[in-house]
Amino acid sequence: SSRLGVLTSGGDAQGMNAAVRAVVRTGLHLGAEVFAVDDGWQGAVDGHIRALAWDDVGSILNRGGTVIGTARSADFRTRPGRLRAARNLLERGIDRLVVVGGDGSLTGTELFRTEWPGLLEELVATGGLDAATAAAHPELFVAGLVGSIDNDMVGTEMTIGADSALHRIVEALDAIASTAASHQRTFVVEVMGRHCGYLALMAAVAGGSDYVLIPESPPAPGWEEEMVDKLRESRAAGRRESMVLVAEGARDRAGAPITAAYVRGVLQDRLSEDARVTILGHVQRGGAPSAYDRWMSTLLGYAAAQEVLSAEPGGEPHVVGVRHNRITLLPLVEAVSATRAVATAVDAGDYAGAMAARGSSFTE
Ligand code: F6P
Repeated sequence: SSRLGVLTSGGDAQGMNAAVRAVVRTGLHLGAEVFAVDDGWQGAVDGHIRALAWDDVGSILNRGGTVIGTARSADFRTRPGRLRAARNLLERGIDRLVVVGGDGSLTGTELFRTEWPGLLEELVATGGLDAATAAAHPELFVAGLVGSIDNDMVGTEMTIGADSALHRIVEALDAIASTAASHQRTFVVEVMGRHCGYLALMAAVAGGSDYVLIPESPPAPGWEEEMVDKLRESRAAGRRESMVLVAEGARDRAGAPITAAYVRGVLQDRLSEDARVTILGHVQRGGAPSAYDRWMSTLLGYAAAQEVLSAEPGGEPHVVGVRHNRITLLPLVEAVSATRAVATAVDAGDYAGAMAARGSSFTE
């Protein structure tokens, strides 16, 4: 029977457990043997791989984080690390994998997949693997699921964890609003998202914030005055609390970071107001997954297990994502490279370039 591994890699995200549970149970239902590779790619490098039964993924649907562990593995970035990973997987006969991770993890996955025949050749030549085992597993089959609170993958509308993180942020904004109103204070709230402004923008809309700074839309020079004017207007209109959201990756048009501390300084100097900074940090990634992250990740895990177990030799690998609210297969290589191109353009303050990369042909 087929042997299927599942791993979670990179930053954890709420809903990863739902995805893992669905992969495991779908795999078992389809007659595969299913294994957890613990702590992301590091577990493959170290041989921390264990068989899972149906009940091993019971009662995890509602839990935050990932119960099979995750890591940003430095060893897996090296060829010797990947050689060890290939040998450890093949010792258990595993040549099909579902990887739940961000664009970095999926890039590493694709590299490993393309290197696979060469890695096996080298292992056989150096006595690390017998030729018969290598010949029985000439190809590595992978399917990717995007686990990241950032919602930053081109081609899919939602990544696993983004909805829960957004809920967490909006709850925090509500909490901040009451203390802000009591003191008639302005708060500058920094939210996560790396190169992507999704969380900041959606939280600003959902939380009724006064001003938001996101990486994809660097503000025009003189934005400080515009922001201050807006806040003055809303005070004049009787609003007692003001809120400015800053995405952690916010940039100006020259590509220089706009930090929460800078925004606070502007507010204090020009508004003569007592401003406070709250950096939400890892609270955004913690805690229970939202209903959406539970059911959508379940559908995604189900589809990913089916996809990877039915993959035929010579096929292209896919990321299983969401488009028009339906499960969609995206070409892994294109999705990852378009995502990289967007991040690079955003970092350079190149708004047009970022938008062009986002609208890649396969996303039509
Ligand atoms: O990619 C998810 C994310 O939470 C980003 O929003 C953030 O920039 C980064 O991970 C933080 O990474 P770490 O948990 O390694 O500090």
